[in-house]
Amino acid sequence: MTGLAGWTGLRPALAALTPTVRQTEGPFYPREQDLFADRDNDLVKIRDRVIEAGGEILYFRGIVKDTKGHRLSGARVEIWQCDANGRYLHGADKASGTERDGGFQGFGSTRTDADGRFSFRTIKPVSYPGRTPHIHAKFFHPVSNNVLTTQYYIDGDPQNDRDGLYRRLPTNLRAQVTMKLVANDAGEWQTDIEAVL
Ligand SMILES: [Fe+2]
Repeated sequence: MTGLAGWTGLRPALAALTPTVRQTEGPFYPREQDLFADRDNDLVKIRDRVIEAGGEILYFRGIVKDTKGHRLSGARVEIWQCDANGRYLHGADKASGTERDGGFQGFGSTRTDADGRFSFRTIKPVSYPGRTPHIHAKFFHPVSNNVLTTQYYIDGDPQNDRDGLYRRLPTNLRAQVTMKLVANDAGEWQTDIEAVL
């Protein structure tokens, strides 16, 4: 054995990942009384309602990992965001002059599969007064108590630079919560993110 092999054995474990930057939960994480019975991963369609949500369809997909790079299966993932009119599914959102979109589920949850993957069908987020477009998200570690709460932004949106929360993100961590949107053949958007908790 060479000295080099001994060296290798002393090195720390491979490539630790930087945890995804945390962002405030905001005031409109839905309460039990705000929610529909339908809380699945399709926010565009509420069960038993004929109408679907207004807005542009976005498939928000990703992989959940721990800081050692292991994919986490069975991790609960929640998202919530305002509808195409700028209203949250929350009784305290009194945004004036806007009607809530009765076809938008507002909140959804799912669990990662055996490969640590999750997927939501939702809408491309829109702005509301004071905020650039964003999607709120929570990720629950399947074993530990670790919960990651953050927000996702649209890459290149001109309103990002005027958004206080976005601007306060350390520039080296912004990419973690910035979604690159790609159009599919059906004219819908999709994005793939990686959450590390
Ligand atoms: Fe928000």
